[in-house]
Amino acid sequence: MALIELENITKTYFLGEIDVPVLKGISLSIDKGEYVALMGASGSGKSTLMNILGCLDRPTSGFYRLDGEEVGSADGDRRAVVRNRKIGFVFQSFNLLPRTSALENVIMPLTYTAGDLSAKECPKRGMEMLERVGLKDRMHHHPSQLSGGQQQRVAIARALINHPPVLFADEPTGNLDSSTSEEVMEMFSALNSEGITVILVTHSVEIANFAKRTIHVQDGLIVSGSYGG
Ligand SMILES: Nc1ncnc2c1ncn2[C@@H]1O[C@H](COP(=O)(O)OP(=O)(O)OP(=O)(O)O)[C@@H](O)[C@H]1O
Ligand SMILES: [Mg+2]
Repeated sequence: MALIELENITKTYFLGEIDVPVLKGISLSIDKGEYVALMGASGSGKSTLMNILGCLDRPTSGFYRLDGEEVGSADGDRRAVVRNRKIGFVFQSFNLLPRTSALENVIMPLTYTAGDLSAKECPKRGMEMLERVGLKDRMHHHPSQLSGGQQQRVAIARALINHPPVLFADEPTGNLDSSTSEEVMEMFSALNSEGITVILVTHSVEIANFAKRTIHVQDGLIVSGSYGG
């Protein structure tokens, strides 16, 4: 069953007098449980596409159905709800809050959704997530006291805190050396084998090889891999 369905998605940035068309008609289907790598030259539109997939941004036109719901045209409030319930997002630069412990970083998204979780349950859930990424013993460390790979694993734990069915990662190993990258990729592989759908952007063929399918983007269009199977 398709978890993600894009139909003729376009994105144009309007800069004063100038229109910058970036995505030019993307159609794509990704099933539950898939592990997909998105590749393409710098400026081809990968991050623009990921931001739409992650409900961080809206398409200019086209349809985006996530888990059966049309989210491409959803307003900001609805997209925030969808992000909280269904989406985990991991960035190249980790985006952790400095001078804040790993545990506090991980449970930060619960501030918006914890209505049904007690004050005790939040840290408990956070510790479970840190355990899942192998960092329970680092829960009181601040980001500056962690290695790059460990910081990215904290960011992954944060992305998982609401048990989303899908994890998006935009160049998650872009700031990491090759052995640390491998550690982070093994984490994604383990999560995928537990059933989480994983979609990541990379410039590295080695990293893309961890995925089971590769989609190539060129100048705002998909040139291969838009449909699996
Ligand atoms: N907010 C914006 N306003 C105007 N143009 C933008 C904006 N964001 C991106 N662009 C343009 O859209 C194009 C695609 O950018 P995007 O960040 O999606 O590329 P990318 O494939 O992720 O590249 P990279 O591999 O370097 O990360 C670029 O030409 C960029 O200049
Ligand atoms: Mg990018």
